[in-house]
Amino acid sequence: MTSIGIHDLELATAHHVLDLGVLAEYAGVDPAKYRIGLGQDEFSVPAADEDIVTMGATAAQAVLERTGIEGVRTLLFATESGIDHSKAAGVYVHQLLGLPPQVRVAEIKQACYGGTAAIQAAVGIVLRNPGERVLVIASDVARYALDSPGEPTQGAGAIAMIIGADPALLEIEPASGLFTDDVDDFWRPNDSSTAIVDGALSIKAYLDAMAGAWDDLAAHGGPAITEIDRLVYHQPYTKMARKAQARLSTHLSAELGEGGLGDSGLAEGAIYNRRIGNAYTASVYAGLAAILDHEQGLPGKRIGLFSYGSGSVSEFLTGVVQAGAAERSDHFTSVLDARVPLTVAEYRELHATVLPSNVDVETARVTQAPFRFAGIKGGARRYERR
Ligand code: HMG
Repeated sequence: MTSIGIHDLELATAHHVLDLGVLAEYAGVDPAKYRIGLGQDEFSVPAADEDIVTMGATAAQAVLERTGIEGVRTLLFATESGIDHSKAAGVYVHQLLGLPPQVRVAEIKQACYGGTAAIQAAVGIVLRNPGERVLVIASDVARYALDSPGEPTQGAGAIAMIIGADPALLEIEPASGLFTDDVDDFWRPNDSSTAIVDGALSIKAYLDAMAGAWDDLAAHGGPAITEIDRLVYHQPYTKMARKAQARLSTHLSAELGEGGLGDSGLAEGAIYNRRIGNAYTASVYAGLAAILDHEQGLPGKRIGLFSYGSGSVSEFLTGVVQAGAAERSDHFTSVLDARVPLTVAEYRELHATVLPSNVDVETARVTQAPFRFAGIKGGARRYERR
């Protein structure tokens, strides 16, 4: 059987950053609640001329510079921060990157799970024609209402991945565990720019789904927990991965705690997420990137990935790290370090600015990324290479 999986991946994030210590001071909250209680240090905030398209195109350009576009006939864009109810955000990326017309483009949505749905669709395409490769982009801006409990768990980021045969980074194994449950834990109505969330219910729904998806993985011939070397979870905030690991430990009556199996999935796997914040569809794959970039000796090891999307759909899958992982290093920390800090007043002003779609507007030139959102003209969004 053909080996299929992640051949290459690259992260991107937004221009600005808000330090959670600064937000804690403004909110009159003990900063330890954010840093320890949630396991978050900062979150990325898009500039006025950035969005899911500019972040996704930035990540994808970096990947394609390394891999080339040979064999790429599909671009799947996963997001829950859609910018249009009809047109796929990936069509703008297609234009910005100068991809040929012979590339199909579509958008996939199911909260934070969308990136994993895109990967599984890509695996199916490659299985049918191993000469093809699929560009998968997962890009999101997590927005909750100002002064709400969800506010410190906002964030912004994108990941681009090439899915193909004989992958250099991670072979995705055929067995996976699924769990779908219609639950109102988190959603965003079409006319709202911020999510509605029942925090306590969302945590319970996530943990129940994780146990259910694990059981389905086991029922479909997945590996035993003792055959998994690292675990990476969807991280709306990094403490959630610790909650998940504790629940899995109880569920399986297995010792998975600190220093045990999967600990580096929690420590190394949180390095980028602590600073990006919740990147929704990109979140679990930012955790994967962080492990691949920071841990030595991974080739041959098996990684378990838990992907959760509120509402809810989730999947537990596994992959075996390939030789190319040995060549990865941390180049993303310098990207995070280069973000421009915001004051709380600046952040609140940016947060409050939601552009109407029926008024022509030119955005301020702020981003230093290769692509920018130039504004709206005649009701249509305009993007350009910077
Ligand atoms: P909250 O009510 O502000 O916080 O909301 P809390 O009072 O529950 O405290 C949080 C933690 O900080 C607790 O630890 C406290 O003990 C601790 P825990 O009991 O959880 O282990 N704490 C402290 N620790 C140290 N020093 C202190 C201190 N004070 C308190 N001084 C909540 C927290 C996460 C609910 C809120 O931020 C929220 O609603 N976030 C958004 C929803 C969310 O992220 N849910 C996660 C699961 S759902 C999911 O992952 C899907 C999602 O990504 C969306 C999608 O799929 O599209 C969100």
